[in-house]
Amino acid sequence: MIVVEKRSDLAAAREAMTGRVAVVMTMGALHEGHAALLRAAARSADSVLATVFVNPLQFGPGEDLARYPRTLAADLALCGREGVDVMFTPTPDVVYPDGDPVVRVSAGRLGEVFEGASRPGHLDGVLTVVLKLMQLTRPDVALFGQKDAQQLAAIRCMVRDLDLPVDVVAVPTVRESDGLALSSRNRYLSSVGRVSARALSRALATRDVETGRAVLAAESGLSTDYFERVDSASFAIDPAGDLLVVAATVSMTRLIDNLLLTPEGRDLP
Ligand code: PAF
Repeated sequence: MIVVEKRSDLAAAREAMTGRVAVVMTMGALHEGHAALLRAAARSADSVLATVFVNPLQFGPGEDLARYPRTLAADLALCGREGVDVMFTPTPDVVYPDGDPVVRVSAGRLGEVFEGASRPGHLDGVLTVVLKLMQLTRPDVALFGQKDAQQLAAIRCMVRDLDLPVDVVAVPTVRESDGLALSSRNRYLSSVGRVSARALSRALATRDVETGRAVLAAESGLSTDYFERVDSASFAIDPAGDLLVVAATVSMTRLIDNLLLTPEGRDLP
């Protein structure tokens, strides 16, 4: 595996990659969910490029940018085990050499609802870095987790609206045996919080908005932000929509999850 930090080294490594190239973009603190993305990437392409970059642009004031877990040595080991060919681990000044970018990608309406409403500017920051990383890595295919369903919808929309020459592939959420969706932020949870957090997947497993909300309301250690049925592309609320989405805070840790109500959706425990 070649590990590169600078743009010039990335360009050289990318030039040497042949055939179909898959990219998996991450913020590090890699877990089994990322491993599943990397395995799906290896199946869909001839070589795999992984990026690890904690993107300051997608964190709001007061969010967890400073304490976001940074575990580069373990991330390198996981990428090595998963057969990654090139790993790009830039610092902020490599990605944003002129400081905060003046021109950014707007997620439009998708950036104003649900995650966008609770985290203003978050999806614009995600799209801006995803577009920059796509420009730097020039993938044929980019893989993203279904766990961040609204991010996935916004990326698909950007690729379509801006005619980006890349296939976007969604990879199913990986869960603990009790249903909790894997997330780098799960490590913030105390053992008590960890128990409360199970209510998210229990609520989704009811496959019903009213019943799911009741499950969340019954969990004292948790504060619900939203639990809705939406269309998975537009994120418009829709009683016949194909996606249930949930966000809740468990002692300062904001967790999100979702369940596809389509044949591709996997049932929860
Ligand atoms: O899903 C993530 O880890 C991040 O939002 C991404 C796509 C790597 C952009 O920073």
